[in-house]
Amino acid sequence: MESLKEDIRAELLALTQSLKLQIKSDTGSGRQPSYLFVEGKVPMNNGPAVHRSFVDNRTQPRKSLSLEDVRKELGDCHRCPLGQIRTNLVFGEGNPKAEIVFVGEAPGRDEDIQGRPFVGRAGQLLTRIIIAMGLKREDVYICNILKCRPPGNRNPRPEEIMTCEPFLIKQLQTINPKVICALGTFAAHTLLKTDVPITVLRGKFHTYHGIQLMPTYHPAFLLRNPASKKQVWDDVQKIMKILLPPASH
Ligand code: URA
Repeated sequence: MESLKEDIRAELLALTQSLKLQIKSDTGSGRQPSYLFVEGKVPMNNGPAVHRSFVDNRTQPRKSLSLEDVRKELGDCHRCPLGQIRTNLVFGEGNPKAEIVFVGEAPGRDEDIQGRPFVGRAGQLLTRIIIAMGLKREDVYICNILKCRPPGNRNPRPEEIMTCEPFLIKQLQTINPKVICALGTFAAHTLLKTDVPITVLRGKFHTYHGIQLMPTYHPAFLLRNPASKKQVWDDVQKIMKILLPPASH
């Protein structure tokens, strides 16, 4: 109870500090306050949803982004209050040309400490799944919906997802894999913009901006429910068929 109170107190403090910093930097730069506008539609002050108007007045042709460019743009991110309380930002890691990207929910305690995705107990299980697929961690790319740890591993909040998602979208656009594997409810719901239960979504391919996306259970769920490993194995076998099509004779 006390540690929950501590978490809430730390989060409220971080929220206030982060808002103050953001307002200071926005008013100083004469920029449109970023907390009022995110990609697509957002309700402002609980009012009607508004569309962000985006006028692209660049004269130079668009250069294709690298993952380093995306990482640089993210910088020492304090766009949401989680930036104030993280130990390390967890950008993602792996092969920038991976054919498969695994997307999880958010860094946990171990990931926050190490600055790397999926390195705790759930991460070790994910590594075993990757090896069982005949791949190595270095072959694939692993990242999360959120780049910073929510306190006490609570669920990501909609405003945190909205703030972080543009960077995930750029990572996925840059890597342009053959398959995305969405690990768990949050990844599947965020990427597919649905709230259909993961039990229904999993096991079938969906499309994410032209890329095939397979939702499956999160490895942390498997640690609590080992009987569901069989279903995850079925799901990853479907992915393997796409990654390694049978040799033609
Ligand atoms: N759970 C996640 O969703 N992501 C991690 O990086 C670790 C645990």
